[in-house]
Amino acid sequence: MAKKYFIKTFGCQMNVYDSHRMAVMLENLGFVPTENQTEADLVLFNTCHIREKAAEKVFSDLGRAYLIKQERAEKGLDTIIGVAGCVVQAEDEEIAKRAPYVDFALGPLTYHRLPEMLAKISRKHGMTLIDTDFPAEAKFDFLPENRAEGGCSFLAVQEGCNNFCTYCVVPYTRGAEYSRPVAEVVAEAKRLLATGTLEINLLGQNVNSYHGEDESGRERNLAYLLRRIAELDGLKRLRYTTSYPADVDDDLIACHRDLQALMPYLHLPVQSGSDKILKAMNRRHDRKQYLNVIEKLQKANESLRFSSDFIVGFPGETDADFEQTLSLVNEVKYIQAFSFKYSRRPGTPAAVMPGQVEEKVKKERLDVLQKLLFDYQTKFNEDSVGKVFAVLFEQKGRHKGQLIGRTPYMQNLHAKADDNMLNKIVEVRVTGATTNSLSGEVL
Ligand code: SAH
Ligand code: SF4
Ligand code: F3S
Repeated sequence: MAKKYFIKTFGCQMNVYDSHRMAVMLENLGFVPTENQTEADLVLFNTCHIREKAAEKVFSDLGRAYLIKQERAEKGLDTIIGVAGCVVQAEDEEIAKRAPYVDFALGPLTYHRLPEMLAKISRKHGMTLIDTDFPAEAKFDFLPENRAEGGCSFLAVQEGCNNFCTYCVVPYTRGAEYSRPVAEVVAEAKRLLATGTLEINLLGQNVNSYHGEDESGRERNLAYLLRRIAELDGLKRLRYTTSYPADVDDDLIACHRDLQALMPYLHLPVQSGSDKILKAMNRRHDRKQYLNVIEKLQKANESLRFSSDFIVGFPGETDADFEQTLSLVNEVKYIQAFSFKYSRRPGTPAAVMPGQVEEKVKKERLDVLQKLLFDYQTKFNEDSVGKVFAVLFEQKGRHKGQLIGRTPYMQNLHAKADDNMLNKIVEVRVTGATTNSLSGEVL
């Protein structure tokens, strides 16, 4: 019988992409997927280190995996437990100490060595392996070909970050910026399109700092890459995420005017509306520059709408600073957003800054901010009622005969629809709206 694997993914879209590529590798080795952890011969956690809570979750999941491993052992079944991702990069010793039963651990830039790790383990069972030290370019060189999972695919074009925002672990866990060559990205896009993808979302921790080499060795920007991919046969929708506001150039703005496939929705994290806090965060933009970028984008494409990330309670944030964040939200009227309480990450500069904000204040501010953000999100969704959107159906709904998909604005929409509409783009009239989703009828 084929061995079964189970992967649980934490964190950002880059981790979702990485998990998919590890799944492809495992399937090439003869493993088959299972959603049921207790029947998995290989359990893999792809982890996130961005906030304390995210990192801690892994250890409770590992504890549970160990119990399952013991239960399976009583039935004579072997279980391999592996950990991948950003927690491994940051806390490999902690994992070895707190979860000594983990069979192998792979950093985010070394998971192409998964087959090698598995071979070693099966030769020498019981041995614990850790592998974190490798540059990003090697990772992409050694991965097997990617293929589509459905109508929407992520495609990593850039990895790592050189920005060093003072609160953030990403430059440490994912390393320095690296851009994949244009030809490699285009080839992967073609494979995704040939295997059923209609929508490609170009990924990078800092995607608009992309500067990969083209076929003639010339350095190219993200705008060039978007134009190249937009013209590929079969591509219906194009997105990119996540962008750094200071690196949005006029070329990229022009793409939003010129490229039909580029969706009218952009995630452009601002973090705070206060110049003082943006400076302390080491962001290379102030409030005015950010709003200027938004205005230019909006001019290039009227239908464009925005989402963002926010941090409340950064060290030194006063009520007046926080008010600035609220007023920025009122200016941009984001249609979606992620907001977080500042989390102190060991080793980052902000962790030892004076003026750490009390947990109670953080929580109050988060509640206020989220209420405002939800109001705008709800309003946008309610205003969608009666409109007709092209929806890409991505999965089956909870009820029979129902599919769930996304509008161009990334709104979740469910509608009565035939299974043969799965992974297709269909015109849908919106009939209802809540804060988090839309309902509609297929036309
Ligand atoms: N590269 C992206 C995303 C980075 S992580 C960017 O620059 O926007 C995703 C989000 O997590 C960040 O945008 C930020 O809002 C949040 N985040 C990162 N570090 C954090 C910390 N220490 N505490 C709270 N939120 C954090
Ligand atoms: Fe982290 Fe800042 Fe880099 Fe984003 S830009 S990954 S928040 S350091
Ligand atoms: Fe988390 Fe690593 Fe992504 S820390 S947010 S999984 S880059």
